[in-house]
Amino acid sequence: MFILFILARNQIAMYNLLKGKRGIIFGALDENSIAWKTAKRAHEEGAVFTLTNAPVAMRMGEINKLAAECNAQVIPADATSLEDLENLFTKSMEILGGKLDFVLHSIGMSPNVRKGKPYTALDYDYFVKTLDVSAMSLHKTLQTAVKLDALNEWSSVVALTYIAAQRVFPHYNDMGDAKSLLESITRSFGYHYGKAKKVRINTISQSPTVTTAGSGIKGFNAFYNYADEMSPLGNATSEECANYVVVMFSDFTRKVTMQNLFHDGGFSFTGVSLEVMEKFMDD
Ligand SMILES: NC(=O)c1ccc[n+]([C@@H]2O[C@H](COP(=O)([O-])OP(=O)(O)OC[C@H]3O[C@@H](n4cnc5c(N)ncnc54)[C@H](O)[C@@H]3O)[C@@H](O)[C@H]2O)c1
Repeated sequence: MFILFILARNQIAMYNLLKGKRGIIFGALDENSIAWKTAKRAHEEGAVFTLTNAPVAMRMGEINKLAAECNAQVIPADATSLEDLENLFTKSMEILGGKLDFVLHSIGMSPNVRKGKPYTALDYDYFVKTLDVSAMSLHKTLQTAVKLDALNEWSSVVALTYIAAQRVFPHYNDMGDAKSLLESITRSFGYHYGKAKKVRINTISQSPTVTTAGSGIKGFNAFYNYADEMSPLGNATSEECANYVVVMFSDFTRKVTMQNLFHDGGFSFTGVSLEVMEKFMDD
């Protein structure tokens, strides 16, 4: 009886929040990816969508498992290539049978982080790549959608970001600058697309999460645990992030646009927690 109660409490109900909606989900690399969890929740909520990732990420083949589970087709696209993006939007509309209602941008990569270059000795070719993949790709995605008139009125675009856009986390390196640009593009494009077509664009600023991109940051475990102890509700999980994205894609958030929405258990507005203070107390 008690076990049944626990199960019932932890189970997320299905609400058909995205019934009749069509979309594109970028960035599902493996089952830890935030985009992977979002695809599964969006499917449960009645959405139809295509899945996409960089051609090089397809080699792992993992995405095909997700595609089978979600009854979705996979269209490879390097999110920095306008040609690939145009193909992605055109094919998605063909496959799904019309204009789209949502897009998830869940993309991040820094060659400087990967190669261990410190922030004060960046490789500038790598830096340009970081900005192109992690931030300008959102602009390119949106500009392609405008060009093809691919999004319905009241469509919702969500990109994932991190609080290193506002505050310094030393090992986050040039990804902090990329996230600042990503959030700025969200505001600027949100204005233009909102005026023209009532399309809303937001970023969700997620807690540290154990994924391929997340764990690639040096000292990840330390700032994962620090964030957890600083957040009154604890770190937000990838499943919880997926739920939030689904709500942002739904019709219940139609007037939310150009925002950076913290999904971090309260971390962003906590000065210090008792747990962290205790670590510095004399006795
Ligand atoms: N994991 C965290 O701690 C955390 C916290 C806050 C925000 N985020 C953000 O969430 C998003 C998703 O990351 P994740 O943590 O799920 O990790 P992930 O590694 O599973 O996802 C990153 C994705 O970006 C894709 N990608 C890289 N280069 C690309 C390109 N040129 N074209 C298309 N796709 C490309 C990768 O193939 C991968 O699928 C990222 O924007 C990340 O910065 C992550």
